[in-house]
Amino acid sequence: MPSIVQNQWYVAAYGREIGRELFARTICGESILFWRTSAGAVTAMSDRCVHRRFPLSQSPSHLADDTVVCGYHGFTYDAGGVCVAVPGQTRVPRTARLKSYPVVEQDGFVWVFIGDPDRADVTAIPRAPWLDQEGYTTVCGMEPLAARASLLIDNLMDLSHETYLHGGYIGTPEVANTPITTEVDEEAGVVYVSRHMDDADCPPFYAKSTGITGRIVRWQDIEFHPPCLYLLHSRVAPVGVLPNDDGTDPEGFHVEVVYAITPETESSTHDFWAVARDFALDDEGVSDFLRESNRTVVLQDVTALDVLENVLTGEPDGYQELSINIDTGGLAARRIIARMAAEGRGETVPASVTTSAGAR
Ligand code: FES
Ligand SMILES: [Fe+2]
Repeated sequence: MPSIVQNQWYVAAYGREIGRELFARTICGESILFWRTSAGAVTAMSDRCVHRRFPLSQSPSHLADDTVVCGYHGFTYDAGGVCVAVPGQTRVPRTARLKSYPVVEQDGFVWVFIGDPDRADVTAIPRAPWLDQEGYTTVCGMEPLAARASLLIDNLMDLSHETYLHGGYIGTPEVANTPITTEVDEEAGVVYVSRHMDDADCPPFYAKSTGITGRIVRWQDIEFHPPCLYLLHSRVAPVGVLPNDDGTDPEGFHVEVVYAITPETESSTHDFWAVARDFALDDEGVSDFLRESNRTVVLQDVTALDVLENVLTGEPDGYQELSINIDTGGLAARRIIARMAAEGRGETVPASVTTSAGAR
């Protein structure tokens, strides 16, 4: 059964990736062409010419003002994907139009709607405002993952793996040793997982970027918007330093870690990652360090998840996983995604996928 949730917005690219060049990326199994009009708007349409399927992203296809000219026989499309010229005749067939996709540029991301365009509600796109906001400096990237999106979601919802997979970067013993709390907002479809460490080792990721030398208060507050946007609100401060009663927190260091998890196919994923900080805003050295460190951490996950994808592909049906407390958030995410997938297929949703979180 296909696992990709339909009728959802997904991150297709960073806004800076799309300009006056033809750019293609496969999103949820669909080959999509992106380009920016001369007025600056991002367009999204099928990357397959309606004539003989030649990819419009492929040279010698090209942009001519605000049209795309197919590099095979010259079919020409406007910014809405409608064919406006064909070779050798003046009449353009009425059906000559590319599938076009609702697209929104927000928070530095280009979001594309996969499914029935009539159901595209731009207010449903979850926000990651820090990536494009005064007072924060962001480093970001995207790594290709040869594994299904659900493996990355599992990975991110349970950060106890930091201790083992990311030791020396972001993992310390306290992460795995500190219990989590999980809450699920069923109505909004959001999963929250928190781990607050009161007295923890400061891993190099935070020691070198903040300059804190001793032990730290380290809070990890995850907010996952299924199926695809993951926010980790991270706060570090010297031991004993807490936010003020009114919520202000001048002595805390805040890092907003954002992942957009976009299926490329059923078994591969675009792993968009971004790290926004509210300190050392103009320090290029800190930016370089955080970019390199986070990319290293992401690649550690990519390596592990690529292995897991091979394991899953090669095993017979019926393997029984064992879940414990640390998996509560991941299980809640799976239930919400299963519910969304069923809704996307137009199925009635079984009650069992709407129950609240709890390891089993
Ligand atoms: S395949 Fe594009 S014009 Fe023929
Ligand atoms: Fe990880």
